[in-house]
Amino acid sequence: MNTKSLQEFDPEIYGAIQREAARQTDKIELIASENFVSPAVLSAAGSIMTNKYAEGYPGKRYYGGCEFVDEAENLARDRAKELFGCEHVNVQPHSGSQANMAVYFSYLDPSDKVMGLDLSHGGHLTHGHPINFTGKLFNFVSYQVEPDSEVIDYDKLIAQARSEKPKLIVAGASAYPRKLEFARFREAADACGARLMVDIAHIAGLVATGLHESPIPYADYVTTTTHKTLRGPRGGMIMCKEEFAADIDRTVMPGIQGGPLMHIIAAKAVAFKEALEPKFADYQRQIISNAQALAEALMGHGQKLVSGGTDTHVMLLSLIDRGISGKKIEKALDKAGITANKNTVPFDPKKPFVTSGVRIGTPAVTTRGMGENEMAEIASMINDVVNAYDDETVTANVADRVKALCQRFPLPTSPAQSAEVV
Ligand SMILES: Cc1ncc(COP(=O)(O)O)c(C=O)c1O
Repeated sequence: MNTKSLQEFDPEIYGAIQREAARQTDKIELIASENFVSPAVLSAAGSIMTNKYAEGYPGKRYYGGCEFVDEAENLARDRAKELFGCEHVNVQPHSGSQANMAVYFSYLDPSDKVMGLDLSHGGHLTHGHPINFTGKLFNFVSYQVEPDSEVIDYDKLIAQARSEKPKLIVAGASAYPRKLEFARFREAADACGARLMVDIAHIAGLVATGLHESPIPYADYVTTTTHKTLRGPRGGMIMCKEEFAADIDRTVMPGIQGGPLMHIIAAKAVAFKEALEPKFADYQRQIISNAQALAEALMGHGQKLVSGGTDTHVMLLSLIDRGISGKKIEKALDKAGITANKNTVPFDPKKPFVTSGVRIGTPAVTTRGMGENEMAEIASMINDVVNAYDDETVTANVADRVKALCQRFPLPTSPAQSAEVV
């Protein structure tokens, strides 16, 4: 077996990791779905638990030698239950998409009708996009936001549920800046006898700390990723009522997955322990304060935001009135050292690879320790780039400001640590 260090044995991959570490260190990360994990989460994710096969669940595995990975999975399950107050949890989904897939496959038959938020209005691919397995296998009908307010009209949603009569309603979003009203979603589901699934992938950290209403009392199923506001390793998770527990567990394994990623489940347990600490709630509060400060400052510069601001960690810069594409602004921002992603805005005339918007989120910069003053500086930099996106002098000037800002806020993991073999 190769016993050389990563640096010695594979300088190409080592180099790529070092360059990625430098990118994360030197640029301002505004992708709303990204974050920086702690050294403890990184250690567990890079640990020797990656060596273990453990098909099944704690105490009921298809393989021997599972007593220690059982400890890790039991800790992850117990902590997740404490964090979210749910009856049952499955921490094995490899990703948010697989968590959603498991819920659909546990309850729906092919061609069953489901209602989900339109992708171009903030929904996710797995909420019924035609090119996704969800759109191909099931009969998804989408609900949308209103043209004037750019938020969901719940009376309309309930009326649509009554006339469409779906078997499942999916709430949750990838790019919706306002709080979701789960009691109204429940009303919609009850109006047509549907079950309710809430996908809290983006807002899980806010929900865990009570800063966003919890869907647990209203939903039959709650799915999430663990790597966004929740600040854990990349992965998924399903919470549900006890009555659906056996169906969900069976659908995850053997239904759609084989062996669980035990190193990632260990890292999920570490992240949940971190999220149970009081300072995690302070962090989540700061994410929202930062998002609101950034939104106010951007609008103060005359920029337009979808729905006129945010209640959460995310906002959408709308370029629709100016006819500029999100693709151009994403590129110009990147040149200046600011990482964000182009995103469709409601009623966007441009294609998903072009778009008329940019999604901006504050979880990662907040982890770096930035506060409201830095948000004002970032808003000014974004404004300068948007107003002169093809002017190289402007992007070069902003790039200098970005470097100076990043140097003042070091990352929780050093570049050396990120390439270490644990
Ligand atoms: C609302 C929502 N659900 C599900 C997912 C899918 O998660 P993953 O990328 O881990 O498959 C995402 C990811 O962006 C998301 O935003």
